Amino acid sequence: MPEPHGPPLLELRRIAKSFHTIPVLHEVDFDVCAGEVHALVGENGAGKSTLMNIVGGVHAADAGEMLWEGRRVIAATPRQSQELGISFVHQELALAPQLSVAENIFLGSHPVARLRCWVRWGEMEERARSLLAELGQAIGPAQPVESLSLAERQLVEIAKALAARARLIIMDEPTAPLSEKEAARLFSVIAQLCGRGVAVIYISHRLREIFQVAGRVTVLRDGRRIMTRLVADTSHGELVSAMVGAEIEDRPPPSASPPAAAEALRIEGWSAAGSFRDIHLTLRRGEIVGLAGLAGAGRTELLESLFGVGEREAGRLFVNGQPVTLRTPEDAVRHGLALVPDDRKAKGLVLTGSLLFNLVLAAPRAHARAGVFPNGGAEKQAGERLVEALRIKAAGLDQPVQHLSGGNQQKVVLGKWLFAGAGVFLLDEPTRGVDVRSKADIYEIIRGLAARGAAVLFVSSELEEILRLADRILVMHRGRIAGELARAQATQERIMQLATGGEN
Ligand SMILES: Nc1ncnc2c1ncn2[C@@H]1O[C@H](COP(=O)(O)OP(=O)(O)OP(=O)(O)O)[C@@H](O)[C@H]1O
Ligand SMILES: [Mg+2]
Repeated sequence: MPEPHGPPLLELRRIAKSFHTIPVLHEVDFDVCAGEVHALVGENGAGKSTLMNIVGGVHAADAGEMLWEGRRVIAATPRQSQELGISFVHQELALAPQLSVAENIFLGSHPVARLRCWVRWGEMEERARSLLAELGQAIGPAQPVESLSLAERQLVEIAKALAARARLIIMDEPTAPLSEKEAARLFSVIAQLCGRGVAVIYISHRLREIFQVAGRVTVLRDGRRIMTRLVADTSHGELVSAMVGAEIEDRPPPSASPPAAAEALRIEGWSAAGSFRDIHLTLRRGEIVGLAGLAGAGRTELLESLFGVGEREAGRLFVNGQPVTLRTPEDAVRHGLALVPDDRKAKGLVLTGSLLFNLVLAAPRAHARAGVFPNGGAEKQAGERLVEALRIKAAGLDQPVQHLSGGNQQKVVLGKWLFAGAGVFLLDEPTRGVDVRSKADIYEIIRGLAARGAAVLFVSSELEEILRLADRILVMHRGRIAGELARAQATQERIMQLATGGEN
């Protein structure tokens, strides 16, 4: 946990920003030194990404100044910010999937066809290989990026930042899509970066990570800086209170649901080439089943196949004991299934639509609990209830969802399905990018669904989430169910053992 020493590399003074007259940042001060990891935390919509987008030249501040090595600078465009030595590792990674690792590292977004004429290919691949080797990664430089896992792509982004001689790397929720093991690997890369004098600004909702990786931490709440501390001088509890503005009570751990009633969904010999093989599982009404495993184990593919998405080559599926064939998501919805996908932008939201449209109007009507709405007023009321239940932070129900913060977008996707009245819920990373307090709310909503007789199957890369929420845990390894653990027997170690192919 490197702590700051020397003068700041980057310093922000009294940064203010409004969108359409709604203030989002109020006179925020922030700084980071060479070789330091400074974590930035806060609830969904607190203003973290906006502040970093100002540093990255994506948004212009309305007031305040930015200093780089003590000199006043302006980053009016992403290019100018890059020229200063600032790189972003985005959560929605910005690599070109068809290009090779080496091309992505060195060419970025340049027109490759033209550069191909003169670039010394072998030399470029060699340099890419040595950069990745310095990061301790054996990723082949000639591999196309689309063949890499998310964790590997992220490392390619970091290598790209190093190739661009970045002196400050901003990571906005880098571990959200990573398993704990992959996150641990990222932390060792971050420690190395700091050793070389690179500064890192680290945003995450997983507060535990802050204590592993950062030297200082700053808390934002409603666009205001609440505190900055050495990580060694603070605690998990202090961070949470600063984030939410009050003590939040420790909620009692849930009691396990009563043992299973009637079966809601069952599959036998369920297989899809290249993704998963010979899966047998039964979900009962009222039960919450967690699906653990490493990235690439086939969890998302399995969930999607149950919803009629993608290819399936063999197997039988039963809903409420009756054999059914689901060819499309519409079939699945008709049989009472709901899927909350992991990639909210691609699969979950109409980005240009308003909050109200996405929450209520785009929901599958036949299943909407509120039924067919008699008038606009009732729709609005339903929308307002959802906003309150999920603590969605928005300017109003008319705000387009593309302007909501990352975590608030995720809540909209969830809200739309969780209140749609399905019998079987398939949830892929339901709380990815969601802040601590909202997480607890979402767990309660999910438990409420189960208590009312729904069956829930959820995928999570956070072992803590699996252990807190699931009544029963299935662990996938390379496309197969490697084992099953009852809640009482499950520990992080046993899950990891199964997930990595070890014997239980
Ligand atoms: N382009 C925009 N237009 C209008 N409002 C915006 C825009 N970008 C962000 N906002 C608003 O600014 C506020 C802060 O958003 P920001 O994305 O900075 O939050 P965050 O702290 O990164 O949250 P999260 O943890 O959910 O990612 C939110 O209320 C959001 O709706
Ligand atoms: Mg954000």
